[in-house]
Amino acid sequence: MNDFSDVDRSGRGSELLAYLDDAHQGLSEPKNAMRAGMPVSPGQDFLDLGCGAGHELVELERAGWRAIGVDSSDVMLDASRRRLEALGLPARLARADAHRLPFADASFAGCRIERVLQHVDDPAAVLAEAHRVLHPDGRLAALEPDWESLVLASSDTEAARVVTGAVGRHIPHRQMGRQLRRLLIQAGFTDVRTEVELIVYSSLTELSHVISLERAANAAWTGGLIPRKRAEALLAEQIALSESGGFHATFQRSVIAWARKPRAVEC
Ligand SMILES: C[S@@+](CC[C@H](N)C(=O)[O-])C[C@H]1O[C@@H](n2cnc3c(N)ncnc32)[C@H](O)[C@@H]1O
Repeated sequence: MNDFSDVDRSGRGSELLAYLDDAHQGLSEPKNAMRAGMPVSPGQDFLDLGCGAGHELVELERAGWRAIGVDSSDVMLDASRRRLEALGLPARLARADAHRLPFADASFAGCRIERVLQHVDDPAAVLAEAHRVLHPDGRLAALEPDWESLVLASSDTEAARVVTGAVGRHIPHRQMGRQLRRLLIQAGFTDVRTEVELIVYSSLTELSHVISLERAANAAWTGGLIPRKRAEALLAEQIALSESGGFHATFQRSVIAWARKPRAVEC
């Protein structure tokens, strides 16, 4: 469990909303790519599953689709409503659990799921629901990070492996990015296409916009995975490398998958 699995009970709604605002800026490239890869005609119904604060509902409406947002959090749905209404856009929103959608079969031409599957109990069940509510020939796009893909250059490779392994440890499905293709095929989708955005970070400051190495190092030693001194030495080395220009980390920040629900009979 982590806070995005149950925003309303986390008590951190404002912080999580601020995080999504930042991410909306930082992830503009993959978000645009995700939308551009969806051959869904303007005017058609498009579901944003786990719509968060509604940033993409705005983009979908502006691109001419009829956007419908679903989220399990009232905090998020209120933020979506405020955002849409402030722009004079329709707010078509529903509070629901992505595992049990309140829509009839074949209700949508398109569906997007961004950074949600990593937080749900059962990503396969959520994709099965998305498949159910899509029209035959409907399109789905999903974007997820792969938290276990973080790689850090260090003279202490074992400590680096342990500390990077502690990144996002409360996220239920930390490898979600690399699992997307497999799960989409298993849910019955076809024509699955994936793209990986590999980011190279050359300073600790750049990395800190996405990942706090300090938090991961603390988690590693408080969790008994590594002695405190070794975690602190790794952190000190990384700060020095960042200052001298020798810092190097890579991370699969987003894996995007596009897929299609087959028509009833396809030869
Ligand atoms: C990291 S945020 C991403 C929000 C949005 N897709 C975006 O990219 O800005 C994850 C969202 O998934 C929602 N969520 C988590 N579990 C859910 C579930 N079981 N059903 C519906 N929404 C869920 C959270 O409330 C939150 O708004």
